[in-house]
Amino acid sequence: MEWVEDHLRLSVLLLFSIVGGVSLLFGLYAVAIAPLWLSLGIIYYSVRHPESEVSIQQDERDRHRKRLKEQFSECLREGGIEPQDEEQFDCLNDNPIRFVYHPMRYGSTKERLERIVEASLPAFKAVRADVERLPPNEEGFFGYEVVFYTETEIATLTAMSVLFDDLREEPTRERIPIGLYATGETAYMTLDGVVGGMIAGQSRSGKSAATSSFIAMLSRLENERLIVCSNKIMDFRAYEDRAELHDDPVDVLNVVNSLNDEAERRKAYCLEHGLKKIEQFSDDLPHITLIIDEYAILRTSVVEDPDGKKPRKVGDEVDRAVFRAASRNAAYGMSIFLITQRFMSGLVDTTTRSLLTSNLLGFSSGDARSDEMLFDTRADEAPSCEIPISSKGVGYIFCEGHMEKPRLFKAAYIDERTEKRIAEETRHLRPKDTDYGKEERLPIQTRGG
Ligand SMILES: Nc1ncnc2c1ncn2[C@@H]1O[C@H](COP(=O)(O)OP(=O)(O)OP(=O)(O)O)[C@@H](O)[C@H]1O
Ligand SMILES: [Mg+2]
Repeated sequence: MEWVEDHLRLSVLLLFSIVGGVSLLFGLYAVAIAPLWLSLGIIYYSVRHPESEVSIQQDERDRHRKRLKEQFSECLREGGIEPQDEEQFDCLNDNPIRFVYHPMRYGSTKERLERIVEASLPAFKAVRADVERLPPNEEGFFGYEVVFYTETEIATLTAMSVLFDDLREEPTRERIPIGLYATGETAYMTLDGVVGGMIAGQSRSGKSAATSSFIAMLSRLENERLIVCSNKIMDFRAYEDRAELHDDPVDVLNVVNSLNDEAERRKAYCLEHGLKKIEQFSDDLPHITLIIDEYAILRTSVVEDPDGKKPRKVGDEVDRAVFRAASRNAAYGMSIFLITQRFMSGLVDTTTRSLLTSNLLGFSSGDARSDEMLFDTRADEAPSCEIPISSKGVGYIFCEGHMEKPRLFKAAYIDERTEKRIAEETRHLRPKDTDYGKEERLPIQTRGG
């Protein structure tokens, strides 16, 4: 009997120790894995309730707007305007800072408001401000919208609308208006004896739009022969009466080659007239600007050669012809501008690149490496990776000889109607020697030649 009891006790003890051991093991495992479960839980919660994070940010913005409103009330009070409770006065946005103010009691005049706003610029760390009259509100009272553009230039420039017609200054070869800085000053490019320039930026960042404004400005110059090449030539078709347009890779190659031959002729002209370079332009001797958009596509073009066995690498020939043009033609009144997404070393000859640094425009760069963007030596001063792709036309500009370092700007946007109007107004300025009669005199390379 005792033997049975002993065995029973032993079995119970064994069972307890097994159960205890297993529980202990599970417990230890649970403690070890708890943080993982906790973080999985948090992830699950935030996926199911995305608004929680957003609402925290929203609260923060609401508070910020309230503070801004108090700050502006203070400025108004100092300027002699006391906003009343029943007046509609709100801060709608915090960057740029946007107020609407419907003065119901006191007919605060626009001039008075403008004076106060001007004096409040430092309080809002603003670089500029606009005061616009608003249509009447529901109660029939007129009001004003006040916008302070802050020192966060990218946000300011993104919010600014810069249209071609906003650039009031007439272009000269020394200064070609191309856009505005956040302060409202004009940003320029130059053609004055320079080799040319480059424009880079992510897809849809505003390269072609800026190029179009540039072409429209150049159209206004007298004695200016404009040649525009692009795989997407329809972007520039509005200028067909003012500029020569090309999209076929072999045509483009022939054009660059013919310009290099023209440079030979101009060299002979300089020797004959004892000139170091050509500075005076005329109908017979116009300044020539060659603009090539979508350069990467042209540079990688290959065409079937009708009699050759191998396809012809037209892109490589273009690369050599462009190098020749960039290394020499500036003295003869000829400039060249290349536009593409990134200037990779395999795409553009590195010497050509270093020659074309007189005018640099770099828009949003996305994930492009700094050595593929334009501001190699100045990448730190021009971090175009910080410009979001949604900031259309916002970029860095560097115009050699006119600027110390690259500066953020917004390129002017030109709509199709304005393009047509400019082309119409300036078609009489298209130099006579751009017609085909004169072209034939140039020893143009033929296909396969
Ligand atoms: N300065 C600007 N202001 C306002 N909107 C602009 C500006 N520049 C460009 N945009 C808008 O962005 C769009 C894309 O611009 P654009 O065609 O110039 O880009 P892109 O850099 O040439 O692109 P891709 O590499 O595809 O040729 C335009 O259709 C226009 O709506
Ligand atoms: Mg484009």
